[in-house]
Amino acid sequence: MNARLQPPQAPVEAAVSLRNVVRQFGDRRVIDGLDLDIAPGEFVALLGASGSGKTTLLRSLAGLDPIEGGQLRAPEARSAVFQEPRLMPWKAAWKNVTLGLRQPDAKARAVQALTEVGLAHRLEAFPATLSGGESQRVALARSLVREPKLLLLDEPFAALDALTRIRMHRLIIDLWRAHTPAVLLVTHDVDEAILLADRIIVLDQGRIAEQIQVNLARPRDNGQAGFNGIRVRLLELLGVEHDDPHAIGNDHNPFLYLGYPLSAIAI
Ligand SMILES: Nc1ncnc2c1ncn2[C@@H]1O[C@H](COP(=O)(O)OP(=O)(O)OP(=O)(O)O)[C@@H](O)[C@H]1O
Ligand SMILES: [Mg+2]
Repeated sequence: MNARLQPPQAPVEAAVSLRNVVRQFGDRRVIDGLDLDIAPGEFVALLGASGSGKTTLLRSLAGLDPIEGGQLRAPEARSAVFQEPRLMPWKAAWKNVTLGLRQPDAKARAVQALTEVGLAHRLEAFPATLSGGESQRVALARSLVREPKLLLLDEPFAALDALTRIRMHRLIIDLWRAHTPAVLLVTHDVDEAILLADRIIVLDQGRIAEQIQVNLARPRDNGQAGFNGIRVRLLELLGVEHDDPHAIGNDHNPFLYLGYPLSAIAI
């Protein structure tokens, strides 16, 4: 078909739009003129060295902190999950999920959200009786029940064991597909970013140092063609050095060179 005969496509409005955003503490600029768009329903992972400003950016996007310069546009309907689940210890799981909800059907919504995260049998459980993974699932349910257009995740799986993490990866993809929020996931785990995200952003010195589009078919696994190339590039960007690329075999995996098992790709 002749491209000129096609009607012009309406531009899709970004779910998140940042222009020249500055966030500083005293004289120190942590976010320094950052531009970023996230499309509705897009899954973006944010990597960067410790102290590079990931949490700072996420908190401003969540509306928890102000910005000192630039423009930040994000949907009203947004929610965040942090590394620790931040549950009220004196409230049962379902009451933690309904915190702040005013709708008359709040309990029914909480039950539905807890069912979605596989906790229908723990509605009345108190946080002290939940495992780390279960607590994080309650925190996810609390976010989902608000039907966010933007879901902000700050290292939500970092404190979990490897198996629980894999289950959480599957769960987060299922929930993302079912609810279609835009997602911004902060992680230190390069493999996690490649497994989950449509696009990976590397933050450095308060700006985006690089963006990588992850065009790998889903479901993904870390042995998939193309996976390792992205991993090596990200590790380079994050400053994981390998002096002699010939010493690491054909797939150029720096962690093999360093003697780490493949599953230890977390920095
Ligand atoms: N409220 C604050 N007051 C002063 N400095 C702050 C504040 N919050 C963050 N910072 C500083 O801003 C920088 C970025 O912190 P931030 O927590 O965003 O890093 P991060 O990329 O999330 O790191 P990590 O990977 O370790 O979680 C750090 O140097 C931190 O000390
Ligand atoms: Mg952080």
